[in-house]
This record gives sequence, C-alpha cells and structure tokens, in this order.
Amino acid sequence: MNPGGVCVYQIYLRSFFDANGDGVGDLAGITAKLDYIASLGVDYIWLNPFFPSPQNDNGYDVSDYCAVDPLFGTMADFETLTRNAAAKGIGVMLDMVFNHSSTEHPWFKAALAGDKKYRDFYYFLPAKEDGSPPTNWVSKFGGSAWEKDGAGGYYLHLFDKTQADLNWDNPAVREELAGILRFWIKKGVKGFRFDVFNLTDKGGAFLDDGAGDGRRFYTDGRQVLPRFAAMRNAIFDADGGGFLTVGEASSTTMEKCAAYSNPKTGALTMTFHFHHLKTDYPDGEKWRRGAVDFPLLKKILHEWQVFMGEHGGWDALFWNNHDQPRALTRFASAKSAFHYQSATMLAAVIHFMRGTPYIYMGEEIGMTNPGFQKITDYRDVETLRYHRILRENGMSEDEVMRIIQERSRDGSRTPMQWTADISGFSAAGKSWIQPAPNSAEINAQSEEANPRGVLAFYKRLIALRKELPVIQSGSYTPVLPEYAPVFAYRRDLAKTRLACVNNFFEEGVQISSSDFNRWLGKPIELLASNYDASPPSFEGGLFLRPYETAAFLF
Ligand code: GLC
Repeated sequence: MNPGGVCVYQIYLRSFFDANGDGVGDLAGITAKLDYIASLGVDYIWLNPFFPSPQNDNGYDVSDYCAVDPLFGTMADFETLTRNAAAKGIGVMLDMVFNHSSTEHPWFKAALAGDKKYRDFYYFLPAKEDGSPPTNWVSKFGGSAWEKDGAGGYYLHLFDKTQADLNWDNPAVREELAGILRFWIKKGVKGFRFDVFNLTDKGGAFLDDGAGDGRRFYTDGRQVLPRFAAMRNAIFDADGGGFLTVGEASSTTMEKCAAYSNPKTGALTMTFHFHHLKTDYPDGEKWRRGAVDFPLLKKILHEWQVFMGEHGGWDALFWNNHDQPRALTRFASAKSAFHYQSATMLAAVIHFMRGTPYIYMGEEIGMTNPGFQKITDYRDVETLRYHRILRENGMSEDEVMRIIQERSRDGSRTPMQWTADISGFSAAGKSWIQPAPNSAEINAQSEEANPRGVLAFYKRLIALRKELPVIQSGSYTPVLPEYAPVFAYRRDLAKTRLACVNNFFEEGVQISSSDFNRWLGKPIELLASNYDASPPSFEGGLFLRPYETAAFLF
C-alpha cells in the first residue's frame, strides 16, 4: 500500500446518518451511505469509537474494546458494513483508545475492588503527605489529572476523571491491547488510528512540574517508539502488512513524528500533529479568542512538509476532525459570498501536499461551525467543563459563549447536512445535538447536483492524487515567500513539476511575472481552479482573486 496514493474519510458516526430513528447516527447508517462515500473516491473510512462506553467523552471512554455499543448497532451491523465497504474497495479503520480506558471497564472495576493484577493496569499512587494529589499535573480537560481512588490514594487521568490512564509499563496491559487489535483484524479491519498514542509512556518518575502542566513528563516518552514498533512487527507486519496506521500525537515535535512514521525504523504509517491548528491560540491558550497568525501558519505548514520529506517521515494531512471547530470558519472566510472559494482553497492546500489527506465528514460539502448561542445547546465534556472554569474565573457569560462558539469541539460534531433539513440525517427528525442552522444553504443533496460545487472539487482533488505520482511522492519546496498573503509550494518528481498557489485573504494579490518566473514556470496544464468559470490568466504573472487557489503543472 502506497500511503501517498490514498485518501481517508473520517466518520463521526453519532452524527453521520441515523438509520434507526433514535437521533444518533449508527453503523447501519454508514452502510446505507456507502454509495455516497464510494462516489468520493476515498480508500478508507476511519470510524470514531463505537465500542461500549458510558459516553462521557462520546466513546473515548471505552468499557469493552471487543464489542459494539447498542447505541450504534450490533456486531452483525459492523460485519455488514466492513463486508460491503470492502466490496467497494474501501477499508475500515478503527479508533483505538489505548492510552486510557473508561472507569467502567471491568479492569478498572477489579482494580478499585483491590485486585492486585488489575491495580497494575493503571497508575494508582499514594497522596502527598498533606493528602494532595501525587503531582501537580493538569488534565487536558482542566483541573487536576488525579482523582481520589476512595482508599486514600489517587489514580491518573490525563483526560476526564472517567478515563483512567492505562499502565503501558505493564507487559500484561500491552498483551491485552495486542489481543484487541488481533480481534478486529480477524473481522476484516484494514487500519487503525491510535488515540493520543504518544502519551502512553508516563516516564516512570511522577514529579511535580515547576514550569508547566506536566506534559513534558508524559509526552513522547522514550518507550513510545519501541513499544509501537514492537506492535507493528508482531501484528501489522506479521499479518502480511498493508495496514494503514496513524497515531494521534499530542504536543509533539517534527523530530519525533519523523521517527514514528519512518517506514523502515518507525512504528506507524503516519502521525497526526496539531501545530498548524494552534495558530489562532493566543500565547498557546485554547480557551481565549484569537485571530490566526498567518505567517506562523505558513511557517509551520512549510517546515513540517520539508522536514518530514528530508527525514523520511510521513504526514497525515488535515484541517478538520471531531476535536476541531470547522476550519472553514477559522482559516478562511465564513461569509457566504466566499464560501465556495474558502472551502476549496483550504482543500487544495492540503490535497496537493506530501502525505495522506483526511477528509472529515461534512468538510466535502463545506459545513461550518453552528455558532450555538446557549451553553445548553452544547454537549461536549471539555466544553462544559471549560464553561464552568471560565465562569468561575469571573469571565462574563457573553464572553465565555463567544469563546465557546469559536473553540468548542461541538463545532464539528453537528449532524451531517444531507438535505435541507434534519430529516436527511434522521427520518424521525431527531438528533442528539442540534443541527447547524444553515442546512438549507449547505447540504449534500444540492452539492451532488452541482458540477461546480465544493463536493465536485473534492472529488477532483481525490482523483488527481490517484492519477499523478508527483502528488503522491514528489518533493516539496516552499515558493513565493515574499508574498505575505500567499501560501504556495511546488512539488517535483523527475521532470514533472506541480505548483499550488493560494490566496488566504479577501483582497486580491498580484504576483509579478518576474517573481512568478523565478519561482515557477510557464503553466502547461491547469489542474484545479476555484474560479473555473473564468480560469486564472498567467499573462504577466498571476493575479489571485479572493481565496483563489490555482494548481498547475509547469
Ligand atoms: C483524543 C480524541 C478526543 C478525546 C481524547 C481523549 O484527542 O480525539 O476526542 O477526547 O483523545 O480520548
């Protein structure tokens, strides 16, 4: 399998399509929409967790790794989906939440009941002398990362207190997790995403962090690479290879990601990393409003592409996922006049890059953040927690809500807009979270009828990657650095040369012919344009209109 030649579609299944009318998307709903998915031309679908779970973190709190939560259907539904997807050439990728389990998992329950074997599955530590938690580490969802265990000590939870961190130092834990992978491989699964995989080595020494929130002690620990490489050897390679694996890397570095994803010495096919998506966090703070630092965004995108290329690493390319507010609203324009250009320009930027593109459901039709005004319309555990924390810190309800509208993970979790109203998602007209208010303007049905819409543009990008080896494996070079509003690069493979030139702003930009010729060359074929009714003219350089993208061979 050549990871440069494939494309992945991510499905947040509770919001994709509700086949049984309870307001929650389900596995049968994905099967029902396989024709739509196949029409995109994607090779894999990555499903967010559907395992039995108390659903405190929408399934990232797993209480049984080898079953299906009745909320999403049955094991038979899963098998039907996998079989029907395979018949269309689509592989199913699962989301393995192996850094932590739910506190409802039988392992944790046995641990709490005092079973020595299972206490070693987690991190139970004594309190400090004054009774306070073992370290001052902060949970990713706010507050202490330690919760009382009811016996005078504490257990570690880097996320919600119902998500207890598993002890990867214990070989018995790693053996259990390997068994879970084998279970799903037997069911025909073709790939895996590993949730926050680079937090699985806590470093052994549980020390207070005098300078930060603790992450430097438990992020990218020395054992992460060898342990995942061992899993690769024992499971993925041993099974004949061909699996697509991706690790979600939290607060990581280019060096680490290149090492994790090196095809010879690494552990996974590729990694997700988030530096480019933090460029609108003022001073790195998520829960504050801020504008995108565009020079920083450019620098990060270019640097990672160049570094990963030079060091044999491989990138997952993405703007959106279930943890991110919609990129369209964030990095381009939310104005309806520029909706098409914004959505397609962002798409072109990553689809011509070196790596494997991921499309998050709804992105291919240009879905936006819903902008709910009231906290009672939000569902996400992190959002609700930060609402409380910010209010307790004295911030006004108005300001907190403005932040939440921009930052909440629920921004991308609203129901897929199949038709002009909610009946396209659920025939019963119900949904676990309200739909965004713009289904009438933005929906898959009207996109499918529009040969010049966002959806058609995505299909073209996906097809181009399959056709052109230069997209799959060409080298990457930043170009036109002197044009501040422009993000542009070239890809080279033998004699084939491709350029992707983008204007991230509403104002037009003139690229002079001397600069154009210095960095690029005379276009021989226009591959993609989001002003296709009046394609760009390359006479006298290139004038880029609002949010214009132009990709061409030269
Ligand atoms: C990852 C998931 C996110 C989840 C967290 C804890 O970041 O993508 O949704 O809340 O891990 O499992």
